[in-house]
Amino acid sequence: MSLKKQTSVLGTRHKDHTTSKKKQEKKKKVSLLALAALMDLRQWFLLCITCTITTALFSCTAVSRAEVTRRNETDRLTLLEVKSNTVDPLGILSSWNSTVHFCHWHGVTCGRRHQRVIILELQSLQLSGTISPHIGNLSFLRELNLRNNSFISAIPPEVGLLSRLQVLRLNNNSLTGPIPQAITRCSNLTSLLLAQNMIEGNVPADIGSLSRLQKLDLRGNSLTGTIPPSVGNLSSLEYFMVSRNSLGGAIPNTLGNLRNLRQLALGENTFVGTVPSSIFNITSLELLDMGISQLKGSLPWDLGVTLPNLYFLSVAYNQFTGPIPRSVSNMSSLSFFIMAANGFTGGVPSLAEVRGLSLFHIAVNHLGSGEADDLNFLCSLSNSASLQKVDASQNNFGGAIPECIGNLSKTLNAFSLSDNALSGSLSSSISNLINLEFLSIMGNNISGAIPPEIGDLINTKQLHLGYCQFIGEIPDALGNLTTMTHLSLRENNLRGTIPPSPGKCNSLILLDLGSNKLYGAIPPEITRLSSLSIYADFSMNNLTGELPMEIGNLKNLGELDLFGNKLSGEIPASLGSCISLEKLYMQDNSFSGSIPSTLSSLRGIQAMNFSNNRLSGQVPQFLQDLPLVSLDLAFNDFEGALPMQGVFTNVTATSVVGNAKLCGGLPPFQLPECKIERSNTSSRVKLIVSFTVSGILVLVLVMSLVYVLWRRKERKTLTLSSSDGHLTVSYQSLLKATDGFSSTNLIGTGSFGSVYKGALDLSEKVVAIKVLNLAQYGASKSFMAECQALRNIRHRNLVKVLTACSGFDYQGNDFKALIYEFMANGSIDEWLHPRASGGAESAPSSRKLNLLQRVNIARDVACAFDYLHHQSEIPIVHCDLKPSNVLLDDEMNGHVGDFGLARFLPAATHEFLREQTSSVGVRIYRLYSS
Ligand SMILES: *[C@@H]1O[C@H](CO)[C@@H](O)[C@H](O)[C@H]1NC(C)=O
Ligand SMILES: *[C@@H]1O[C@H](CO)[C@@H](O)[C@H](O)[C@H]1NC(C)=O
Ligand SMILES: *[C@@H]1O[C@H](CO)[C@@H](O)[C@H](O)[C@H]1NC(C)=O
Ligand SMILES: *[C@@H]1O[C@H](CO)[C@@H](O)[C@H](O)[C@H]1NC(C)=O
Ligand SMILES: *[C@@H]1O[C@H](CO)[C@@H](O)[C@H](O)[C@H]1NC(C)=O
Ligand SMILES: *[C@@H]1O[C@H](CO)[C@@H](O)[C@H](O)[C@H]1NC(C)=O
Repeated sequence: MSLKKQTSVLGTRHKDHTTSKKKQEKKKKVSLLALAALMDLRQWFLLCITCTITTALFSCTAVSRAEVTRRNETDRLTLLEVKSNTVDPLGILSSWNSTVHFCHWHGVTCGRRHQRVIILELQSLQLSGTISPHIGNLSFLRELNLRNNSFISAIPPEVGLLSRLQVLRLNNNSLTGPIPQAITRCSNLTSLLLAQNMIEGNVPADIGSLSRLQKLDLRGNSLTGTIPPSVGNLSSLEYFMVSRNSLGGAIPNTLGNLRNLRQLALGENTFVGTVPSSIFNITSLELLDMGISQLKGSLPWDLGVTLPNLYFLSVAYNQFTGPIPRSVSNMSSLSFFIMAANGFTGGVPSLAEVRGLSLFHIAVNHLGSGEADDLNFLCSLSNSASLQKVDASQNNFGGAIPECIGNLSKTLNAFSLSDNALSGSLSSSISNLINLEFLSIMGNNISGAIPPEIGDLINTKQLHLGYCQFIGEIPDALGNLTTMTHLSLRENNLRGTIPPSPGKCNSLILLDLGSNKLYGAIPPEITRLSSLSIYADFSMNNLTGELPMEIGNLKNLGELDLFGNKLSGEIPASLGSCISLEKLYMQDNSFSGSIPSTLSSLRGIQAMNFSNNRLSGQVPQFLQDLPLVSLDLAFNDFEGALPMQGVFTNVTATSVVGNAKLCGGLPPFQLPECKIERSNTSSRVKLIVSFTVSGILVLVLVMSLVYVLWRRKERKTLTLSSSDGHLTVSYQSLLKATDGFSSTNLIGTGSFGSVYKGALDLSEKVVAIKVLNLAQYGASKSFMAECQALRNIRHRNLVKVLTACSGFDYQGNDFKALIYEFMANGSIDEWLHPRASGGAESAPSSRKLNLLQRVNIARDVACAFDYLHHQSEIPIVHCDLKPSNVLLDDEMNGHVGDFGLARFLPAATHEFLREQTSSVGVRIYRLYSS
């Protein structure tokens, strides 16, 4: 029966290889006898084959015993090589030891039959180091997954030896060097995932030979060159992602051959020319990202027909022209529609058929006709129930904002129509969009009143209604928007007084009411808003009255604009408390009196303008000590000598014209010489001053002599405590002090090293010595951070660093240590969580903190932090406050220690915020681009 079947099979085979004519002739010729003979022959043949296979199998097993041993030994040794090149802070690879068979090591999977490694998976384990070239010896490896680690250096070309490799997943590391050419020999590769590294060089030209490739993800590297046309041969490819590289040239035509492609991400490169039309023909595409490049041309009219499955479409930041194809309304799966920053013209098609739109971004184009009904497309967006962001700013849209905006999904979070030619008034239906956090309609011709219903948008963070034609008063209801950070009503026709209610918006960091027709006084409620930091602008109104003295609350304010009003009275001395001020513009008002001396505390001030007021008195000397690059005192009533240092050395930076009573100064100012009589008195003053100064100098000299003599006596016994942190000690003396770093002196181990107790020679005083473990990644950095942080701070509740040691040990290795005051009572961690077997000598059994002690320690810690944050010269953030870092001296006072993770708070925080707000468009784009 089976034989018969075989014949028929053979027969069929035969059929395949001959033309039907020949076959018929043959059929006739073959006699029954011959058939029988043939059958016999076949039987023999079969038997022979069986024999051969059996023998082969037997000999194979015979070989394999030795072979397997050798090979599995190879895999074990290879894995150990991999381990030895890896830095493993979590100690994951400690399980890779001889007590366990390597097939059970963490992350290793072996084939069941051969006991060879087929999967090596060590993802997200904080590993670093390099990938060992020996990895090429794991010849049965099918999957190598090292993603989300910190491996550095190049991918070893030996990866090309892994002929069975199917998945290579190295994304999110710090790999450099090129993609090894040899990778193209891994002919079984289906996924090559190298995204988020620093890989450079070209994409290998013959990458197209990896015929099984389905995913190729090279995003976020530093690749250069062009996309090799051979990519078009990868007929199984579903994901081709090369965004965020430096690839250039034209997008090859051959990409259109990839009929299974689902995601094509080319964004953030420098591709030029037009997009091959074949790409718009890949019907399977779901994601098409060509944003941020240098592409041009127009989009095909039938885009929505040929790419009906797209959910993500970005062509933003290119040079595309022509209309947005009407057919996009066909893309019923569309969620991200990003056309921003191109040269698109014409109307915007309706997207009523699209129901899942999330981001609609068409800003910075030439869309719209400037006439009525331009914004009708907005109404079609109301079918999308999860709409999040709509940005149609910087186009030519005209007409009114349609009433239907109130029908947009309540999920809408950001909405911008700024910089268009819109007219009409702002409909109160906007108040339906209760989840709006960002609303901008600035730069239009919107008139009418600001609807008080705007106060319902209680989640608003940024409200930009400036540069329009709004009339009426500032609505009181703005005070309801307590989470608001940015409020701009600049350049409108708003009248009336400033209501005090925005004083309730205590998250406000930017307030701009400039260039309106506001009158009355600046309400003190607003000058109490200590959150204000970027700027507060009241300029170019008709404001009167005095500047409220509460202005001193604005300790974080970077810029204050009061110019072009009718403010009067003296400049309040409290202005000197606005210590973050960089720009102060008070010109064109009626301020009188003198410049208060408190302004000398404005240590960051760069520009001051007091021109066109009625200020009088001397030009204060302290102005020359401030970091001013521009100072305008023109047209006031200042008198006396002009200082000659600092900003006063630069005649273009300083203006003093229109002050008839000023004299002196450097010659370019062309002021009259100060009167002889005056200079007489001043020389008399000089004389007195110099006598006094020399007197004091002599006194100081004598006193320091006495002090030094006294100190010399003391020094023998007190070397360290008098060192004040500047004396360094040697490795040798530390070795001696700690009995050779013996474990009996070990009082703790921390993240970056060990702490020993010891007594340095000469002084009997006991100290704590922290020896940094420099093999630990980051320890050296931590040492520097701690030295930096402690250099200039001093507080009774901070652990005092006596000195430091930086040098070499006897083996010639780097050695770094910090020497602290010894805290007799250890850390509060030891008190709160006493360990059973724990800390040797200092563990009396009845250790317990009473309530008073706890409160005192808490107060000590709070004092230390108040000092670090508010009173030290540069604010310091400790970053690592925990019980084990709060130490107790012998009187149970708390001392904060371990500044190994400390950071200086950058002074330029508001610069950062300013940058953030100036690039909203790009931010939105980046948030959503793949
Ligand atoms: C290698 O394989 C042999 C045979 O399967 C086995 O006896 C031996 O224990 C293996 N050695 C290692 C290190 O896995
Ligand atoms: C890997 O193979 C190379 C070349 O065959 C050899 O030199 C190397 O010693 C091998 N490494 C291990 C760990 O077996
Ligand atoms: C070896 O690995 C096993 C399993 O993880 C572990 O329990 C053991 O402590 C390790 N031995 C050594 C000496 O590290
Ligand atoms: C797009 O595909 C259609 C049919 O699949 C074909 O007729 C047409 O020539 C293709 N266009 C381009 C530009 O490849
Ligand atoms: C908003 O503000 C107005 C005027 O200040 C007030 O009458 C109203 O109750 C406030 N609404 C809410 C929800 O707080
Ligand atoms: C003087 O001030 C002007 C304007 O602020 C500036 O451009 C110039 O660099 C300054 N010159 C010097 C020598 O500081």
